[in-house]
Amino acid sequence: MTINHPSFGQMADDRIIIFDTTLRDGEQSPGFSMNLAEKLRMAEALAELGVDVIEAGFPIASPGDFDSVRLIAEKVKGPVICGLARSARGDILRAAEALGPAERKRIHTFLSTSPLHMKFKLRMEPEAVLQAVADSVSLARQHTDDVEWSAEDGSRTDPDFLCRCVEAAIRAGATTINIPDTVGYALPSDLSRIFGMLRERVPGADTVIFSAHNHNDLGLAVANTLAAVAAGVRQIECTINGIGERAGNAALEEIVMAIRTRPDAAPCKPRVVTQNILKTSKLLSAITGFDVQPNKAIVGRNAFAHESGIHQDGVLKNAATYEIMTPESVGWSRSSLVMGKHSGRAAFRDKLRALGYGEIGDNQLNDAFRRFKDLADRKKVVYDDDIVALVDDEVVRTHDRIRFVSLDVHAGSKSPPTAEMELEVDGEIIGASATGDGPVDATFKAIHAIFPHESTLRLFSVGAVTEGTDAQARVTVRLEEDGKLVDGQGAHTDTIVASARAYVHALNKLLVKRARTEPEALTA
Ligand code: KIV
Ligand code: ZN
Repeated sequence: MTINHPSFGQMADDRIIIFDTTLRDGEQSPGFSMNLAEKLRMAEALAELGVDVIEAGFPIASPGDFDSVRLIAEKVKGPVICGLARSARGDILRAAEALGPAERKRIHTFLSTSPLHMKFKLRMEPEAVLQAVADSVSLARQHTDDVEWSAEDGSRTDPDFLCRCVEAAIRAGATTINIPDTVGYALPSDLSRIFGMLRERVPGADTVIFSAHNHNDLGLAVANTLAAVAAGVRQIECTINGIGERAGNAALEEIVMAIRTRPDAAPCKPRVVTQNILKTSKLLSAITGFDVQPNKAIVGRNAFAHESGIHQDGVLKNAATYEIMTPESVGWSRSSLVMGKHSGRAAFRDKLRALGYGEIGDNQLNDAFRRFKDLADRKKVVYDDDIVALVDDEVVRTHDRIRFVSLDVHAGSKSPPTAEMELEVDGEIIGASATGDGPVDATFKAIHAIFPHESTLRLFSVGAVTEGTDAQARVTVRLEEDGKLVDGQGAHTDTIVASARAYVHALNKLLVKRARTEPEALTA
């Protein structure tokens, strides 16, 4: 029997729904929090990537989470917009309110079902859990036809009890049933068994979509997801770059390309525009300050680099000798040399379009163009990666309260390093100067003088966007305040300016984080 889904209509057998939770499970993990503008930018990129569902956040978690889900529901067209809710009435009503403006909306409600979680976390008896499943799904259904129910810690749940919970959720009106491997404990064979059992034993199982949500604690998230797809699952929950609680979630880019590359193992077709994968991955790195490791599958710098002479020779003769997919199919371009200081605004706009920034607004274009000219003056050749770093930097900072204006640093061996700094704070330009143990220290002290704060610097790291001595530096700064960690990032040919921008970015994130309180019993 084909499923008639409220948001996706008649589901063909080979249809698979890509449910992206970068902005919820991903954003929830330490160091990955994003502000409102960053979340909106990321949601727009996910829509361009062609994901089917965007889990935009957890509206009850904080006013900031509520606002971002609402803004995404209002502005982002195409994918179904989803909000997470525990079983509590308040959570579900808050999610429904945040999702109000969405064209298509989903409420995702969850409750733990494993003996361990029911006893120690929820302190609820199994019968009470069953009742809460039915009540929460019924309430969610009063607000939308598209309701997902998740059995938190589902992979460690007693099989009979799991069947009863899933049956209760389906009877109450759930249209998607998600069985998370919350703690990343399952093996592929467990996933095959669990989904096989549910599809066979639960009345009504053929009327809903089953979904997999796998964590990567044993490095098995993608393998487990593929096993689940082979067992009949037609929704995959995943995140860009695999970010998420602890070791993360199944990486979208890996699972999508595994399905594309091995249709024999997974007979279904994700609708993702795979050529946008790299761009989306880089945007997330720019926003969060975390680059993926060089050997990361699909999006790592070395993913398509052939070092050995034998491999290079083979690839030149026929790329298929050592490449199981083309770099272009996920957005890598073979030639990345771009423009120089004589390139005009029109060429710059064309380049941005080619890099996938078609919708950039005029103000952002002007600011980015100004910074491009500045960069082209300092650097002989400007590569695609330089432009991506520069534009992402511009786009994600439009709503920041504190903005970098200027920096003048005097350093060397003769006199103490001095930094003269100007920042715009809530629209007002403020200047300060400071001396320090080195030019970076002096710069950070000047920022502190303009915007006093109690946070501690926990990490300062410098990398290069491209190669060569004139490459842009990409600096990451990690700040800690009251146990909360944030990472900021900045890119510039001058390492000290990049450091200042990274510090200011981290401060802006801290301001967002200050306004946030985590709800109780919020896990994975
Ligand atoms: O890992 C998990 O169990 C979750 C649920 C809230 C779906 O993220
Ligand atoms: Zn999770």
